[in-house]
Amino acid sequence: MSEIDALDAAVAAIRKAAPAAVPRVGIVLGSGLGGVADAVVDAVDIPYGDIPGFPKPGVASHAGRLRLGTLSSVPVAVLQGRAHAYEGNPMVDVVRPVRVLARLGCSMIILTNAAGSLRAEVGAGRLMLITDHINGTGLNPLVGPNEPALGQRFFDMSAAYDAALRTRLHGAATAEGIDLAEGVYYWALGPSFETPAEIRAFRTLGADAVGMSTVPETTALRHMGVRVAAISGITNLAAGMVAGSALDHAETMTQGSAMAGNLTRLLSRFLTGWTDAA
Ligand code: HPA
Repeated sequence: MSEIDALDAAVAAIRKAAPAAVPRVGIVLGSGLGGVADAVVDAVDIPYGDIPGFPKPGVASHAGRLRLGTLSSVPVAVLQGRAHAYEGNPMVDVVRPVRVLARLGCSMIILTNAAGSLRAEVGAGRLMLITDHINGTGLNPLVGPNEPALGQRFFDMSAAYDAALRTRLHGAATAEGIDLAEGVYYWALGPSFETPAEIRAFRTLGADAVGMSTVPETTALRHMGVRVAAISGITNLAAGMVAGSALDHAETMTQGSAMAGNLTRLLSRFLTGWTDAA
């Protein structure tokens, strides 16, 4: 089956399960940030297991559910759970859910993730708007024959994170009294956390935060010409920054849930009055 056929099959299954849904904005929720989906009203939930080609439950590491509904009166499609490259998934599987959102009609997608901060003044609990990224993995979801129905072989990544969307997100943060940092996100493959020497190297390269997702999705969406905004929820200072402390996933999950409240307010305000022209 070609990838276009796989995308069409997923779109058809979603349209059949939720015929009335016409999502305009997609949202991908990262580790611990699933609570944002609770704010979506008139919701229809579709388990990933019911959508052909979506990540298998258990592999998704979060809820594994697509929620269609409205947030601040804007029709949205929310992915609760993503497949990661470190789980051994082929890159085409990692990006299939966001490609499906685009083909469902989302012209803008907001990606979120849990990340470690490389800046001591941006600590756990803060939200960081991603301005740009560094792909530290050598992996790219577009490797292989190009699919012209999705986009061009070579495409621009110099403005991957939409400037107008970033301005609007800063405005929403100010209005909500949320202290929104901004910076460059470094994609490390994982699943091991980084060593202190790696973190020092990434900082020298210009990174402000490090995490194990998002970059493949941004890449695949820019290939399709979809506008992207991305926000990291900082769950910890990166390896080696706090003397004597070790990193663990439990910390990611606790800090993530605490930030979900701020992220919900930020996105609700950001979407208020949203039109595709904004
Ligand atoms: N490194 C990589 N991924 C992460 C981290 C980190 O420190 N924290 C949360 N996700």
